[in-house]
Amino acid sequence: YRVPAPNRVQDRRHYDEAGAEARVDALVAGAYEAFENTPDTDPDLPGNREWGRGIASRMVGSELGNATVAASRVENESTLNAIIERGIAASEGWRALGADERARILYRAGERLEARRAELLEVMGSECGKTLDQGDPEVSEAIDFANFYSALGQELERVDGAVYEPSRLVAVIPPWNFPVAIPAGGTLAALASGSAVIIKPASQSARSGAVMVEALWEAGVPKDVLQMVQPADRALGSALVSDPRIDRLILTGAYETAVAFREMRRDLPILAETSGKNAIIVTPNADLDLAAKDVAQSAFGHAGQKCSAASLVILVGSVATSKRFRNQLLDAVKSLKVGTPENLETQMGTVIAAPSGKLLRGLTQLEPGQSWEIQPRELPSDSPLARDRDGNNKLWSPGVRSGVQRGSEYHLTEYFGPILGVMTAKTLDEAIDIVNDIDYGLTSGLHSLDSDELALWLRRIQAGNLYVNRGITGAIVRRQPFGGWKKSAIGAGTKAGGPSYLHGLGTWHDAEPVA
Ligand code: ALA
Repeated sequence: YRVPAPNRVQDRRHYDEAGAEARVDALVAGAYEAFENTPDTDPDLPGNREWGRGIASRMVGSELGNATVAASRVENESTLNAIIERGIAASEGWRALGADERARILYRAGERLEARRAELLEVMGSECGKTLDQGDPEVSEAIDFANFYSALGQELERVDGAVYEPSRLVAVIPPWNFPVAIPAGGTLAALASGSAVIIKPASQSARSGAVMVEALWEAGVPKDVLQMVQPADRALGSALVSDPRIDRLILTGAYETAVAFREMRRDLPILAETSGKNAIIVTPNADLDLAAKDVAQSAFGHAGQKCSAASLVILVGSVATSKRFRNQLLDAVKSLKVGTPENLETQMGTVIAAPSGKLLRGLTQLEPGQSWEIQPRELPSDSPLARDRDGNNKLWSPGVRSGVQRGSEYHLTEYFGPILGVMTAKTLDEAIDIVNDIDYGLTSGLHSLDSDELALWLRRIQAGNLYVNRGITGAIVRRQPFGGWKKSAIGAGTKAGGPSYLHGLGTWHDAEPVA
């Protein structure tokens, strides 16, 4: 049970020597090569245990990013106004720099993120319970965003017959669960496109966002071009988004949050990746060993707190009626080492805060017809990393419930925590119907080695990111542009890490005036 660090791009010399297209190809080649060759954070690999232990020992009591967070606090509207004015004023110079010069700075940003990898892992573990095996590929993803979006920014200037006009000021509002990669992705995309940025990291993970922002400043992004804010209250956060000088909003968060922002300012183009309720279908033609591992990993990596996580597994035909796969899956889940991230053995870390509301219901209550295959429990712990900001325990073991009925609350609701529901279907068609009943459509998985089943699933399934015979989390920049359908997205062309992402951040004009 381990997520490899697949996309660490090691040789950045390509990027300075070749054209944009070659750079993108080198990035992908590098990613494939790194996928095969780069040791991940497996503590048993030589060298990694000491490296990891050094990082882990600093997680408890980590103060990284604190000063930047404090400096970014916004107490009132006049401070916010000054920040927006500074951003607007700085945007002109950033745009005038041109894509090549901006790219030079942003490739260097990738190098600064690499240089600060250990610190980023430390602060993510300390704030969000990220284990090293989850955090390490996240830093790699942020670096990939730097390289990929830099190259895309250069391509924008070379499109024949059209001129790309960047936005002046883009607001980036990321979530707490990927506290480095998602803030970095939005920020780097907007910067590469030629805009100035105001980023508001989630308050739960503001220090991780701050260390990422510091790395970009160190690379040479001017401090007025990239400003970080922590509004003192919700009203100030809303004031940022409602300000007409903000040209675009890049948002990752709950669907309801995106809708609220859209209501606030109907004229504001939003690129939003929102909620998910994702399923993996396992048919009798699957490699069941692989499926059990992939389902457990997709459901419980980062304690299930990913929009991409598997929250349902749908067993088809004989996989549903025989005990074999269920037992394999339950064995895999029971084998997970649950704990806090300063322990290198930990495979599933804490939830972000002591569960309440919907998540608490999901961890403690069953609906009619359901039973616990593995009942989640609150676990006692002495570690300070097991307590949330209010001092309450946030360490829970994983849960698996079976007997989830079609149309039940569990079937249709996102819980964002370490719970997996088991559903059954007589046929693959029925399993696909069960998935398509859901309002969201972010990630979806099929485990089957049968090409007819694959064709059927591809034709009918409604989700933005489709994975076959692999886990459904951990999209890789460019190879798997990431974004949803249905209520998992707002705004068109929003696939992060995809070739058209920057297009939505600016406006296209004809190069020649029309006579
Ligand atoms: N991009 C993240 C993933 O694929 C959310 O898991």
